[in-house]
Amino acid sequence: MKINKRLLSLSEMVDDHYDLVWDCCCDHGLLGIKILTNNVIKEVNFVDVVPDIINQLHDKLTTYGHHLPMDAKWQTRCEDVAQLPLFDRYKSNQLQANQLVIISGVGGELMVEMLTRLMSRYAGLNIDFLLCPVHHTYKLRRTLIELNFKLKQEQLVIENKRGYELMLINQGQGGELTLTGDQLWQPLDEHQQYLAKLITHYQRIVSANGDAEPLVQSALSDYQALYHKLF
Ligand SMILES: C[S@@+](CC[C@H](N)C(=O)[O-])C[C@H]1O[C@@H](n2cnc3c(N)ncnc32)[C@H](O)[C@@H]1O
Repeated sequence: MKINKRLLSLSEMVDDHYDLVWDCCCDHGLLGIKILTNNVIKEVNFVDVVPDIINQLHDKLTTYGHHLPMDAKWQTRCEDVAQLPLFDRYKSNQLQANQLVIISGVGGELMVEMLTRLMSRYAGLNIDFLLCPVHHTYKLRRTLIELNFKLKQEQLVIENKRGYELMLINQGQGGELTLTGDQLWQPLDEHQQYLAKLITHYQRIVSANGDAEPLVQSALSDYQALYHKLF
């Protein structure tokens, strides 16, 4: 099974200490299937809000499931990520279960909404989240900081000239999570180009609207300062 660099990098950030992984916004299910195929995780729940997507994925997994490791367990769930029942399966020892919630491939603003709603039910618990937003990462990071998330690991993946910020976070454990992603940056041309693109994006908003919201102004000045520091 061929998967792209972004999904491969996400799958490599999943180690064997999780009892259960949620592949949220799973669409084709490629990420969760790769994680099960790697044989480090025994159980994956595939979640998407669109019934046809989940029905097709269920059929695919039923047909090709024999290619997965013998003891692999999976479930498909048609559900809004904001409503996930994170502790249904582990009634008696639910707080000991190591769970990883992956949300990948949706916009950063939608992720803000999902996580704000989800954390209103699960705040303060030891749950890892692995995020890969599409755009609006500055706004997402600000919300994550407000929600007291800490950073365990982050990396920048460039694919087809687009940049993706992958972050593994937890409310209880980890180091400081920053607005511009202190651990993302390496002295590489493609990283420099990604940062320059972010700056151009926020410059355009500010020049189209001199009275742009404070978040846009601070994103622009933070990214410019970072650019001068790094490159
Ligand atoms: C572009 S796909 C992402 C596929 C894969 N995770 C990736 O990173 O390539 C986005 C998926 O998110 C699903 N989605 C959007 N909002 C959702 C929500 N609130 N809850 C669950 N799934 C959602 C869509 O139905 C769609 O299948």
